[in-house]
Amino acid sequence: MNDNTPSHGLQLTSTLDADGTLRLALIEAPLDAPASDEVLVRLEAVPINPSDLMPLLAGGDTATAHFGGSAARPEVAIALPPEAAQAYAGRTGAALQPGLAGAGTVVAAGADAQHLLGRRVTLLSLRRGTFGQYVTVTTAECAPLPEDLSSREGADAFCNPMTALAIAETVRLDGHKALIHTAAASNLGQMLVRICAEDGLPLVNVVRRAEQAQLLRDLGAEHVCNSADPDFAAQLRDAIATTGATVAFDAIGGGASPGLLLEAMEDVAAAAMGFYSPYGSLTLKQVNIYGHLDRTPTVLHNARYGMLWDVRNWALPRTLGQLPPERIAAMNARVLGGLRTTFASHFTREISLAQVLDRETMAAYAKLATGEKFLINPTL
Ligand SMILES: NC(=O)c1ccc[n+]([C@@H]2O[C@H](COP(=O)([O-])OP(=O)(O)OC[C@H]3O[C@@H](n4cnc5c(N)ncnc54)[C@H](OP(=O)(O)O)[C@@H]3O)[C@@H](O)[C@H]2O)c1
Repeated sequence: MNDNTPSHGLQLTSTLDADGTLRLALIEAPLDAPASDEVLVRLEAVPINPSDLMPLLAGGDTATAHFGGSAARPEVAIALPPEAAQAYAGRTGAALQPGLAGAGTVVAAGADAQHLLGRRVTLLSLRRGTFGQYVTVTTAECAPLPEDLSSREGADAFCNPMTALAIAETVRLDGHKALIHTAAASNLGQMLVRICAEDGLPLVNVVRRAEQAQLLRDLGAEHVCNSADPDFAAQLRDAIATTGATVAFDAIGGGASPGLLLEAMEDVAAAAMGFYSPYGSLTLKQVNIYGHLDRTPTVLHNARYGMLWDVRNWALPRTLGQLPPERIAAMNARVLGGLRTTFASHFTREISLAQVLDRETMAAYAKLATGEKFLINPTL
């Protein structure tokens, strides 16, 4: 670090007190000097993704929050519901730093990372949060952005793009020939529509509003089922029969969603047998729960799924652990080459770090609504 390297920066922290109160604050924190294989990045664009809300809000309801502090140093206190306080008891007293992804400029670099000094990079930081002015990451956690791409365009090159690609990889690794995807109008879902079209992988999209169905059709999606339609069950079975989908990636996760997907896949498989069996079909149906947009408990009635079915939790590191390094490198290169097209993220609002703790803004991004993704610009 030279004399011009910043020693402190604003950092958003989320701390759970022993009495179940979650305290959010923007504090001036000392910066970690980069080790030999690390860089210090001045953050310029940071997405707010669903996975960031867990460390940030810990299941707390922003409608019950108390707002204090000053405009420049806001403070928020949220009394967690008892079940959330209990679920997150392990983090009591720890000042967590939310934020996984981001992009910015390298302002200091360790001995083995000098080639990145002054470069703009996109990053995924697992140890230190990106909801701040600066973050220190290893060279393995970042990649140089192509010169002609803005930090905004490169803000999420790992989290959603790599997850969407890894979903397609999992389908192939597990021997399926088509898949179902729920909450499919999400940012990630739109990427998946484009990936599957490019790769010739049949995809059944499940959404819950007519405008979401239209959005996906405008992107070229062939099979879109709207769960709000009275004939949704028939739409889903038709699309499964047409595509041969035997695996689902369910971002909803809670309530009846995984069970309804299993039932639909089993109905199609049983009908294709041509005879009735009390044991159901011999087709393996799998549901990978990869998000929990519905926080209610998952309900499974093992009556109509046949004999062969799996419901499992799925996360990006699981598939990355199954793939050889050269395959992962090829996936990363595909993402970096397609950040304006296949892997484009659309941000509707750009906010400052202080605005992350603003009453109206918090209520808006906590909704996780279609097409309302927020981008933090820590330089504002
Ligand atoms: N497991 C992993 O490794 C991994 C990695 C990355 C992302 N993810 C998951 O990927 C999912 C999509 O992320 P994203 O950033 O692309 O999301 P996003 O752009 O913020 O969109 C969220 C979508 O979910 C819908 N939604 C919200 N609550 C819902 C509910 N209860 N039932 C049905 N739909 C609901 C919204 O539709 P409305 O407008 O109708 O509310 C919206 O279309 C998230 O669940 C995230 O946690 C998982």
